[in-house]
Amino acid sequence: LGTWEVAATDSPSVKVLREAAEYLKTKDVPVGFPTETVYGLGADATRSAAVKGIYTAKGRPSDNPLIVHVSDLDMLRNLLVPQHSANGTANGHSDPIPEIYKPLISKFWPGPLTILLPNPEQSVLAPEVTAGLKTFGARMPSSTLALTLIKLAGAPLAAPSANASTRPSATTASDVLEDMNGRIDLILDGGSCQVGVESTVVDGLCDPPVVLRPGGVSLDEIRSCAGWDKVAKAYKDQSELGKAAPRAPGMKYKHYSPKARVVLYEASYAAGENGISEDDVGYITQFSQQAKDTSSAPTTVGIIRTRSWKAAAGLRTGQFESRKVVEAAETDIEVDAQEAELLDPKADESIGKLLDLSIGVDARSAAQGLFSALRELDRRKADVIFVEGIPDSDDIAAAVMNRLRKAASEIRT
Ligand code: TXA
Ligand code: MG
Repeated sequence: LGTWEVAATDSPSVKVLREAAEYLKTKDVPVGFPTETVYGLGADATRSAAVKGIYTAKGRPSDNPLIVHVSDLDMLRNLLVPQHSANGTANGHSDPIPEIYKPLISKFWPGPLTILLPNPEQSVLAPEVTAGLKTFGARMPSSTLALTLIKLAGAPLAAPSANASTRPSATTASDVLEDMNGRIDLILDGGSCQVGVESTVVDGLCDPPVVLRPGGVSLDEIRSCAGWDKVAKAYKDQSELGKAAPRAPGMKYKHYSPKARVVLYEASYAAGENGISEDDVGYITQFSQQAKDTSSAPTTVGIIRTRSWKAAAGLRTGQFESRKVVEAAETDIEVDAQEAELLDPKADESIGKLLDLSIGVDARSAAQGLFSALRELDRRKADVIFVEGIPDSDDIAAAVMNRLRKAASEIRT
C-alpha cells in the first residue's frame, strides 16, 4: 500500500494528485484523503461500482447514506437537476439550490457543514450513495488537498469517514492505514485534521430546520443565519439524558468505539474543576482489582482528561501511587500521555498500568484530540478507558459529547 505524502504546508504535489484523481476515475477501490474534519474514503459518486467499493472497504451496511463532496457550486447544481437536462445553470431555470441554504453556504462553505438536498428522480448520483433516500447530503470541504482532488477527478466524491465501521474516525493518514491496510491501495497524507470531529449535518428541507448531527459548525453559529433561528436538535444531548439511570454496561450503541470499554463521566458528575474525583479513584481501583482477580493478565487502565493536567497528580498521590513515570509521549495532535503503574493500595503490588492522557481543556482542542486519544489507548492495549466529559453547550462541545456518548458502554451522570 502506497502512502503518498503531501505536507499540509506545501502546495500539494499536483502530479501525485493527478494520479490519485485518475485512480478515482478508473478504479473501483476508494482512496483515503484528508479533509479538515476527519479523513474520508472517497469514490466517484456517479459510478455505482466505485461507490460499492466504499461499502466493501469499510465493512459498512449499505443502508447508511454517504456524504457527497463537491469542489464548487456548479458541481452541486448539476446534482440537483435531472440527468437528461443540461448544466443546472445553463438551462435557463432558476438556481436549483434551495434558498434556505444560501446563508449557510455563504457563511460556512467551504467548511465542516453538510446539507441535505432533494435527489432528483433521474439523478446523476449512483443509487448506492443515497441508500434509497429521496435526499442526499453534500458538503464542500475546506481542505485544499480535498478540493484539488475533487476538481482534478472532475466528479463529486462520495466519502464516509475513513475508519472501519464502528471504529473511532481517522484523523491522520496512519489511522486510515491502521483500519484500511489491505482494503485500499492509496492514502493521501495531509497531516492531522484541524477540526477532528465530523461535519455538522443539517436538514433545511423540513420546518423547522434541524441539526441531525452536531459537528464542526456549532448550533449557535447556525442559529445566527437568516431562516435558521428556530433550528431544532434532532440528536440526543445531556438535557435528554437528564437524570436517567447510568447506562448499563453492555447496552452499547456501537459507534466511534475503541476495543476497550469506555466509561464516560458527564461533566456534571465529576466534582467541579477537579475532573475525575476521589470517589472515582475508588471506582477505578475497584475495577482494576476485580479485573486482576478474574484474569491473569494485569489491567491497563486509560484515562482521557479534558480538565486541568494538575488533576492527574491528585490521582497518583492517592490510591494509585505511581512508582515511576515511564513515558511522556506527545503525538502531533495535542495528546499528552503519561504512563504509571497501578498499585494495590494495601498490598503495594502492581495490579496494572495507568495510561493518563490529556486532550486539552478547551472544546476545540478536545475535538481535535478525541479520536486520536481513543486510538492511542487502543494501540497501547487499554482494557478500559475512563473519559472526563466536558459541559454540553451549543458549540463544538456538543459534537465531542455526542461522539463520546456513542462510544461509551457506561455513562456516569
Ligand atoms: O466530516 C464529515 O462529514 C466526514 C468527512 C469525510 O467529510 N464524513 C462523514 O461521513 O462523517 P459518514 O459517512 O461517516 O457520516 C455521514 C453522516 C451519517 O450520519 C449519515 O447517516 C448522514 O451523514 N447522512 C448522509 N446522507 C444523509 C441523508 N440523505 N439523510 C440523512 N442523513 C444522511
Ligand atoms: Mg463515520
